[in-house]
Amino acid sequence: MRFGYFDDTKREYVITSPRTPLPWINYLGSEDFFTLCSNTAGGYSFYRDARLRRLTRYRYNNSPLDQEGFRFYIREDDIVWNPGWQPVQTELESYSCRHGLGYTVIEGSRGGVKASQEMLVPNKANCLLVRLSISNESGFAKKLSVFPYIEFCLWDAVDDSSNFQRNWSIGEVEIKGSAIYHKTEYRERRDHYAVFWADREPDAFDTSRDAFIGVYGSPARPEAVFGSGCTGSVAHGWQPIAAQQFDLELAAGESTSIVFGLGYIENSEDEKWEAPGVINKKKAEDLIAAYSCAGAFDRAMEELKASWADLLSHYIVGSGSEKLDRMVNIWNQYQCMVTFNMSRSASYFESGMGRGMGFRDSCQDLLGFVHMIPERARERILDIAATQFPDGSAYHQYQPLTKKGNLAVGSGFNDDPLWLIAGTDAYIRETGDWSILDENVPFDNDPSLAQPLSEHLRRSFRYTTEHLGPHGLPLIGRADWNDCLNLNCFSKHPGESFQITGPSEGPVAESVFIGGMYVKYGRAWADILKHTGLAAEAEAAESSISAVEAAVLDAGWDGEWFRRAYDAYGNVVGGSECEEGKIFIEPQGMCVMARVGAETGEAAKALESVKKMLDTKYGIVLLQPAYTKYHLELGEISSYPPGYKENAGIFCHNNPWIVCAETELGHGDRAFEVYARTAPAYIEDISEIHRTEPYVYSQMIAGSDAATFGEGKNSWLTGTAAWTFLSISQAILGVKPTLDGLMIDPCIPADVKGFTVTRKFRGAVYDITVENPDGVQKGIREVIVDGRRIEGNVLPVLESGSCTKVAVVMG
Ligand code: GLC
Ligand code: GLC
Repeated sequence: MRFGYFDDTKREYVITSPRTPLPWINYLGSEDFFTLCSNTAGGYSFYRDARLRRLTRYRYNNSPLDQEGFRFYIREDDIVWNPGWQPVQTELESYSCRHGLGYTVIEGSRGGVKASQEMLVPNKANCLLVRLSISNESGFAKKLSVFPYIEFCLWDAVDDSSNFQRNWSIGEVEIKGSAIYHKTEYRERRDHYAVFWADREPDAFDTSRDAFIGVYGSPARPEAVFGSGCTGSVAHGWQPIAAQQFDLELAAGESTSIVFGLGYIENSEDEKWEAPGVINKKKAEDLIAAYSCAGAFDRAMEELKASWADLLSHYIVGSGSEKLDRMVNIWNQYQCMVTFNMSRSASYFESGMGRGMGFRDSCQDLLGFVHMIPERARERILDIAATQFPDGSAYHQYQPLTKKGNLAVGSGFNDDPLWLIAGTDAYIRETGDWSILDENVPFDNDPSLAQPLSEHLRRSFRYTTEHLGPHGLPLIGRADWNDCLNLNCFSKHPGESFQITGPSEGPVAESVFIGGMYVKYGRAWADILKHTGLAAEAEAAESSISAVEAAVLDAGWDGEWFRRAYDAYGNVVGGSECEEGKIFIEPQGMCVMARVGAETGEAAKALESVKKMLDTKYGIVLLQPAYTKYHLELGEISSYPPGYKENAGIFCHNNPWIVCAETELGHGDRAFEVYARTAPAYIEDISEIHRTEPYVYSQMIAGSDAATFGEGKNSWLTGTAAWTFLSISQAILGVKPTLDGLMIDPCIPADVKGFTVTRKFRGAVYDITVENPDGVQKGIREVIVDGRRIEGNVLPVLESGSCTKVAVVMG
């Protein structure tokens, strides 16, 4: 069943019922100011860091769900309704929500009145803009009252939801004209406040939640809205809010609109006050003025659309398939931008209070983002590298506001260092900007420890080289990519974190997966060394890599597939001798992507085993058989009920590894089959089963062992975005940036006759046409660049600004 449809011309997903299986959200903002916005206008706003600079409140485990947001109540006589149906849930006569790229438009109508709520965060601005337009289409005059409403968060979202003995006494606001200022803690240790405004004077306002909602009221039944209106309350402690009341009279056929804003302002120490106790509003007033002039909202919308058109112009496929084109050209790239911005911090499943930016997550997000805005990718690489320790290991997470590593989780995830090579390598291949390697970057955020980025990569590589276990495979530490395979943890007590309990390093537990990574990204490092004239070091690196590759093919090989690991007792994890968890997806994907066993047959066998043992109709599950008991020696993975999360869920992130792996072996049919199975646009028809948004990937889909097989969870923030984009754009469609130029090497289903790709690469535009006259899955017969046949399949790097036609014939 569907709850909407794709409007590809407008690049929107149009939701036609407010009763989606779960709130279906969008992200507004792409640099510093962000708003999460659901299809009924639920959500919240923050500046840079969803934990430390939360502007508005959100209650994740609320019932009913999704109560907080940027709400409008419309009252006509004794009927109250919201343009997005929530929270009053008065039946609407029409409803739609258009989630576009960086904006959302919700429209509802009732009693001949149409309301449209358009929301966006303008480019480069630290505010949310919301335009409410009301038209009276009823044929007779109407008197309406409109009430906007938001609830402020007292900045630190963790503290806000726990430290009530303090918080209920500290809330402070100021009111001036049509603006409400939230200034809690500004007096002492903060240099920032929030401002809510309207572009016209309201008839009344409230800033105390008790006054507007009522102590025993609810967002579904605010006392002010259902009673006699706003009372002019001023919040002193308790819950500061911003609510206003506009009494409107609309003649038949008349419409009106009001633009609202929610902004974040910082003032330096010497400019904090305009009078004792009165905050300096200069910057806020400038912001309000800028967006109150006629046409400002429309201009902001146009600029936003123009910037997205530009961002998406770097990779455009013409495949003849509507679903594929919309995934590649719109939604997959859009999700890559969002994951790049958020890492795993703030979604409807990630509270924004916990994880900050992940080292490995952010490095992988770069893989799908780097072609859009390489300069931001560059900055990100340097930020991430600065959280690396001098020995090459790394903080597992860091806080976006401070860019400092989180001590609470610390280090010891032994795949982390190699992901830094992966991200940097992708950046250099995309841009050809070798100068990044010479950038001085601190270790452990300590400028006195700064070294060139190349030295960071060297230590990343060396860290693994020097941390090998009894079988010559890399030691796993706290965990590798699979955060839940905790082989040195041995946690027995509830409440202990699987991530930090036990020693961060054990001398025995090894990871075959990191072995595969070391081969893949170690080779990337060796190529970088060669290109920078360090041949001897490259040779030494290659010999360490060969040794690990041999270990993977020896102790890491089970006979039909790659093993997963060795536990702290030296027992096999992910082998035929195991009762549960005989085979895992990760090493099959990573080792074959690294081409381990590609020439000697193990790679092909491993992928056949995946198909035989892990395939389901909704995607490939992470392992089989699922763990039914808690295995102390394996940790969190066996704590999940069978079929969920890492315990045999369809962890979407590593499905594209199998796609990429299949293309390494030339299996275009199978690669595409795996790709399409989890691609959101391909499963739109089962939205009632899948439940999460049909325009983005979810981290996990419940596996075949689960009661809710096929149900998605943790939508939006997942490495799946970057990896699926890589798998379709580079591995299947075959347009691959290399250190020397753009390689064309498609691996497609045999029945695909051809396709086109327009690719902006290092400033030049390549118009590529691929034909497949003989129905092959892989292989290039000829490549013609501007009418001339070239040797090989790597397109030359062209002058920036030039445009070139490339004709490729497969065969
Ligand atoms: C989550 C984490 C990611 C990890 C994955 C598998 O998505 O963000 O870092 O690799 O789970 O455990
Ligand atoms: C839990 C999740 C896993 C995630 C980790 C991050 O273990 O299951 O997916 O990577 O938390 O802290």
